[in-house]
Amino acid sequence: MPISYDSERKLFKLDTSDSSYVMEIYDENYLVHLYYGAKIPDANLKSHKYRGWFASVAPQNIHIEDTLFSPDVSPFEYPCEGTGDMRESAFSVRNAQGNNSTDLRYVSHRIYPGKPRIDGLPSLHVNSDSDADTLEITMADSVTGVRAELYYTVFNEFSAMTRFVKVFNDSDSPVDIERIFSSCTEFNTHDYDMITLYGDWSKERTFERAPLTHIRQGISSKRGTSSHAHNPFGAIAEHCANEEYGSVYGFNLVYSGNFEFSAEVEPHGGTRVLMGINPEAFGWRLESGECFSSPEAVSVYSAHGLGEMSRTFHKLYQKHLIRGRWADIKRPLLINNWEATGMDFTGDKLVTFAERAKELGIDMLVMDDGWFGNRDSDRTALGDWQVNEEKLGGPLSSFIARINSLGIKFGIWFEPEMISHDSNLYREHPDWCIQVPGREKSIARYQYVLDFTRKEVRDYIYSLMKKVIGENNIEYVKWDSNRSLSEVGSLALPPERQKEVAHRFILGTYEVMDRLTVDFPHLLLENCSSGGGRFDPGMLYFSPQIWCSDNTDPIDRLHIQFGTSLCYPASTVGAHVSASRRAGYETKGNVALWGTFGYELDPNTFTEEDREIIKEQVSEYHKYYDLIRSGDLYRLISPWENERRVAWMFVSEDKEEALLTSVVMRKPYDDAFYLRLRGLDPEKYYVDDNSGEVYSGALLMNAGINLTNYGRNDGDSFKIYFHTL
Ligand code: GLA
Repeated sequence: MPISYDSERKLFKLDTSDSSYVMEIYDENYLVHLYYGAKIPDANLKSHKYRGWFASVAPQNIHIEDTLFSPDVSPFEYPCEGTGDMRESAFSVRNAQGNNSTDLRYVSHRIYPGKPRIDGLPSLHVNSDSDADTLEITMADSVTGVRAELYYTVFNEFSAMTRFVKVFNDSDSPVDIERIFSSCTEFNTHDYDMITLYGDWSKERTFERAPLTHIRQGISSKRGTSSHAHNPFGAIAEHCANEEYGSVYGFNLVYSGNFEFSAEVEPHGGTRVLMGINPEAFGWRLESGECFSSPEAVSVYSAHGLGEMSRTFHKLYQKHLIRGRWADIKRPLLINNWEATGMDFTGDKLVTFAERAKELGIDMLVMDDGWFGNRDSDRTALGDWQVNEEKLGGPLSSFIARINSLGIKFGIWFEPEMISHDSNLYREHPDWCIQVPGREKSIARYQYVLDFTRKEVRDYIYSLMKKVIGENNIEYVKWDSNRSLSEVGSLALPPERQKEVAHRFILGTYEVMDRLTVDFPHLLLENCSSGGGRFDPGMLYFSPQIWCSDNTDPIDRLHIQFGTSLCYPASTVGAHVSASRRAGYETKGNVALWGTFGYELDPNTFTEEDREIIKEQVSEYHKYYDLIRSGDLYRLISPWENERRVAWMFVSEDKEEALLTSVVMRKPYDDAFYLRLRGLDPEKYYVDDNSGEVYSGALLMNAGINLTNYGRNDGDSFKIYFHTL
C-alpha cells in the first residue's frame, strides 16, 4: 500500500518507489511531521517530533502534558501563523476581527486511488487510477471557521509526491488568506545545501549551491511571472551529495507566477522548507462559502544524487505533466526567422526561408514577431492582432498556402498578454492594462501588461487569436510574454481584492491557454518569455516545449541547458542552431540536439559546406530523436564543476544505445582526457560507432574511455554513439 494509516498509533505513511514520508496526528489533533527520506519499512518515529527541553520558554498547549512538545519547536505538517509557532508559517488568514491568528487541526482523512485535478490551475495527471494514490486530510480552525484539505499524491512508479491545499470559508464572514504555501517539509537537521537556479535574460537557470545556515534563505519572484531571476525549483541536498551519491530532495512548483522557495533553520537545528505562492505579493478575500486552491508542489527524493533526482523529474513530467497529442508524437523540426530578420521581413523573404528549409529536410517555418498591425519595431502594435497583408504580400491564408505548397508546415508568434503603448488597442482601452490609479505605469520594452484578470479583456484577445488560427492552416504557436508586472492593480477589482491581482492574472493566462488547447488540439504550443523567463511546470502543462533562452551562443547555452536539465526534460527545452559567432555549426548542432532542435538563422546564407553539415544534423536529429527524448540523462562533467570542458550522455531505457557529447568551452590545461561513462549495462558490450571498437559497459564505466585526441580547442565538440552488439 503506497499510503497507509495506522489508526492505533495515528500515523500516516506515504511510500513512493524509493521514499517514505511519515506524519502523526498528535494530542489535540496537531498534525506533526516525522520523516521524509529514503524508504523505510516501519514507522517507529514518534520521538522525532522532539527537539530538546524547552518547557521554560517555548509556548505550550495548555491541554498537553508533554512538555517536550511545543508549537514553536516541533515539526508541523502545515504550520499556521499566530498560535505559538514563531517560525515562518505555511498558512495564515486574517479573520473578521482583523487578526491573523490561525490554527488548523486534524479532523478526518480519506485515502483513494488516482489523483484529483485542481480547478483553474495546471497540475500533474494520472493516466489511470492505478498510477497513484491520494491522501486527503481535512483540517479545521475552530475559531475562524476555516477548513483546509491537504492533498498528497504518491506516484507508484516514481520517487515523487505532489501536494496542494484547498481552503474553504465555513464561517459567515469573509476572511483574507495572507499566505498559503503548497508544501511544508520539515527536516530535523540543517546539514544540507540549498541548490537553486538563478539568472537573468540570456543567462537563465544558472546553478547555485550554498550551505544552509541559521538564517532564512531562499528565492522568490514578485515579478508576476516565475521569472528569469529564479526558477520555481529548489533542492535540499546533503553536503556530500553530488551527481551520483547522497540524498537530495527536489521541489518544483507547478505555477508560473510569484513564488517562494525558502528554508528556515530554526534555533534548535531543524529546517523548515516551504514552497508556494510568494506571500509578499499575494492576498485573497475568501467570502463565506467560497474555496481557494493553492498551486501544486512536486517533491522528488533521490538517494543517489542530483542525477537521479533529475531523471525522476524528467520521467515524471513526460508521463504525468505533458499532455495532448504532442506528448508522444514526434515534434516538427522547425526554423524560426527571429534572429535572422527581426521584424524586417516580407512574405517573399520568408518563402525563400521555406524553400531552403525544404532542401535541408526541415519541417516547419515559424514566423516570429512582426506580422500584425504596424509592428515594424518593438515600440508598436501589441494587441492589434490583425494580419499585415502588405508585409506578407496578401492574405495570411495565401502566404501560408505558398509555404505549405513547398511541403513546409507553418507556425506563428503571439504575445497575448501584452499591449503596446503605441497601439490601437491602447488608444481605445487604456483602462485594460494592469495599473494602479493615480500612478504612472512603468513601461518595459515599450509595452504594458493587459489586465488578464478581466474576462472581457481575455475574451477580446482570444477572439482575435482564434480568428487568425481558426481561419488559417497554423500548426504551431509560440506564446511569448516579454515583461514582468509592475504597479500591480486592476481597475476592475475593489480595494480589498487588489492583492489578488497577480494570482488572478496568471489564472487568466491559464484560462486563455486552456481555451487555445481545447479549441485547437492539433496545435503545438511553445512557450517563451524573453527567452526562458517562464520555464516552469505550469507552462509545460499547456506547452510541451519552452524556448529556453534568447541566448543561442552554444557555449553560454551549456550553462543554461545544464541548469535547466536539473528539473526539466530535454523534450521541453527549446534549442536552436543560430548564426552566433562562437563555435562552428557542428558544436551548435551538438548543443541544440540536447533539446527540441531547430534553426534560428537565414538559411540563404549557408555555404555549400554549411548545407552539408546541416543535412547531416537533420539526419542526426531523426536518428537520435527517441534516445534523447525518452532516454536517461547523465551529466558527466557539468559547467559548475569544470569551466573548460563539459560532457553529458543519454542512455536508452533498455540500455541498448547511448549518445555521449562533449564540448570544450575553453582549451583545457590538461592534455589527457579519460572519461568514465555512466548508466550503461555493465554486462552488455557496446560498439563505439566512431572507432568500431567494442567495450563492455563495465569497462566504459570503470576504466573509462580515452578521449585525449578528441576536441581540444575552444568551441570544439564531439559525439560518440554507442550501441550494443
Ligand atoms: C522575445 C523572444 C524572442 C522573439 C522576440 C520577438 O524576446 O524571446 O525569441 O520571439 O521576443 O519580439
